[in-house]
Amino acid sequence: MLKELKDRVAVVTGGGSGIGLGMARAFAAEGMRVVIADIEDEPREAAVKGLNEGGAEAIGVACDVAKRESVEAVREAALSAFGAVHVVCNNAGVGGGQPVPIWAAPQEDWDWVLGVNLMGVVYGVQTFVPVMLEQGEGGHVVNTASVAGLMNGMGIYGVSKQGVVGLSEALWRDLEQTNSGVGVSVLCPGWVRTRIMEAERNRPEAPRDDVELPPDVAARAEFVKGLIANGLDPDVVGRQVADAIKEDTFYILTHPDWNNVIQHRFENILGARPPTTILPEGSLGLFGDD
Ligand SMILES: NC(=O)c1ccc[n+]([C@@H]2O[C@H](COP(=O)([O-])OP(=O)(O)OC[C@H]3O[C@@H](n4cnc5c(N)ncnc54)[C@H](O)[C@@H]3O)[C@@H](O)[C@H]2O)c1
Repeated sequence: MLKELKDRVAVVTGGGSGIGLGMARAFAAEGMRVVIADIEDEPREAAVKGLNEGGAEAIGVACDVAKRESVEAVREAALSAFGAVHVVCNNAGVGGGQPVPIWAAPQEDWDWVLGVNLMGVVYGVQTFVPVMLEQGEGGHVVNTASVAGLMNGMGIYGVSKQGVVGLSEALWRDLEQTNSGVGVSVLCPGWVRTRIMEAERNRPEAPRDDVELPPDVAARAEFVKGLIANGLDPDVVGRQVADAIKEDTFYILTHPDWNNVIQHRFENILGARPPTTILPEGSLGLFGDD
């Protein structure tokens, strides 16, 4: 396990903004060297500049996590700049896709959201875990899921995040048996103050600005934007991730007010009840059918 992060090397996908940037800042504060891998040029370079100005060693690499060869290029850049990789945060992710019933979602939405949110994590695991095992210096994998990965009713996004939770749990079991000192965490946040609601900006094809939403769906999207705008500071999440690596915590739950929602899901399963959803404690409403 990595009890000491100083002078270690971290790769953060989606590190140009939001939660990834929060992690990168927290790692830099621990004295780590940081590789920011992100599809968006300006935020990526601004993030590197900010880290460098703060005295950290950091580089940026253009990367689309939905493409295996692009993730492999990040590995080569990291090894050539810093000679090792000790922490990989498979964090790049997108919300979005059309808010329609799951049977009506276009194929492009499945391809985009699962490609980034799930296959991006798969490629990160396939690319970086062998490096850590070969180095023999321990390490840690952090996969960003969401509280959506522990509840139900979140459409394609929820499917992708449940996949990330399942993948991370399988990875934990497999790594445990290697006695390699390579640990795993799965990050499951509630609302965090980021640009996730503008994720279509990074969509391979043209953003779907032309889609007219029914009034209730548009109102719901606006409401969620408000919740995210008032969400947790990504720097706080970043520090929680750094602590979780040092303490080897597997499930990183940043929002205790969502615990009742997670509990409800598992009570439904154990009670053979249908997959209803309840609201987070203190919530103003909107999600849920109970
Ligand atoms: N913000 C929240 O409330 C929240 C809650 C739970 C989970 N998450 C998860 O946190 C992660 C980070 O999202 P965020 O909220 O910081 O959003 P964000 O949009 O602020 O940051 C996402 C970053 O990922 C990058 N990115 C997008 N597609 C990419 C691709 N194909 N390849 C490489 N980089 C790509 C973006 O350029 C951006 O820098 C995501 O996995 C998201 O699902 C966010």
